[in-house]
Amino acid sequence: MVKINKIAVFTSGGDAPGMNACIRAVVRKALHNNIDVLGALRGYDGIINNDFIQLDKSSVGNIIQKGGTILKTARSIDFITVNGRRKAFDSIQKNNIDAIVAIGGDGTFSGAAIFTSEYGVPIIGIPGTIDNDLFGTDDSIGYDTALNTIVDAVDKIRDTANSHDRLFIVEVMGKDAGFIALRSGVAVGAEAVLVPETQTYIDHLLNKLGGDRRKSKSGSIVIVAEGDGYGGAYKVADAVKERYQHFDIRVSILGHVQRGGNPSAFDRVLASRLGAGALEALIEGRKGVMIGLVNKELVFTPFEKAVKHHKELNKQLLSLTEILAL
Ligand code: F6P
Repeated sequence: MVKINKIAVFTSGGDAPGMNACIRAVVRKALHNNIDVLGALRGYDGIINNDFIQLDKSSVGNIIQKGGTILKTARSIDFITVNGRRKAFDSIQKNNIDAIVAIGGDGTFSGAAIFTSEYGVPIIGIPGTIDNDLFGTDDSIGYDTALNTIVDAVDKIRDTANSHDRLFIVEVMGKDAGFIALRSGVAVGAEAVLVPETQTYIDHLLNKLGGDRRKSKSGSIVIVAEGDGYGGAYKVADAVKERYQHFDIRVSILGHVQRGGNPSAFDRVLASRLGAGALEALIEGRKGVMIGLVNKELVFTPFEKAVKHHKELNKQLLSLTEILAL
């Protein structure tokens, strides 16, 4: 057990629905243990620039259902520099902060890993990103909500696709990882899913879309991750059109709508468990780790491993999209 009197919590990187539910859990669990909480605004920049707000019981009331993050978020340029991190450490000392809870994704934890090794400040990370690309957790906060947003949007797209017998190429987020594309692709019954992890698919897609099979279909949906490796939905649409001039094709880029909205029940519960778990971990003396949920159990993964240890796409889901899109 470690005596902690004061912590700082912040959100960093791309926002994700459920971050507010997580902030609430961190604050209320801290107060339950008589720990004072500061919220740093705009991620690491808030620490560097001494931009804190005091968080109490009521400041996290009525936020569990809200998307975005009340603490704002940013990708700090200053924290990448040695000077920026020194300023952050000075600010932590000046404000008598004993430990930090960082809610974010791979950029957030890469920074946390360096900072921990330089200054030894106890930090616990909580995975908050719709990309779900962190090793050490089955789900990150926001992923489930983003999937539900996509399913809702693509169901609507399918209505119009069917009415016009059109092929829709729908681009979803995922610059470096295909978790969003793959899972949403299964959920919407996509004809095909293109992800960054598999590079040799355009010919496969063209073959798949050809022949008599599509004649018997009315509307069809292809899901493309933004970092698919071929150049995104418009490029894919061009390639399909070049081979099959008679196809009526439309492109839909879902964009940042995927990052907003009220968190799903799943994300609220996940965020609450991880937020409270992070506080317990700090009190137990853990640091330099990301808390996650694997097979419904809380687990801890060193920051470097969470970021660098490649999380694999579910191969069964990949082959399922092929089988089910007959
Ligand atoms: O939150 C992660 C992510 O959604 C990526 O999938 C995407 O490439 C990126 O954020 C875009 O974020 P921004 O527009 O904030 O730079």
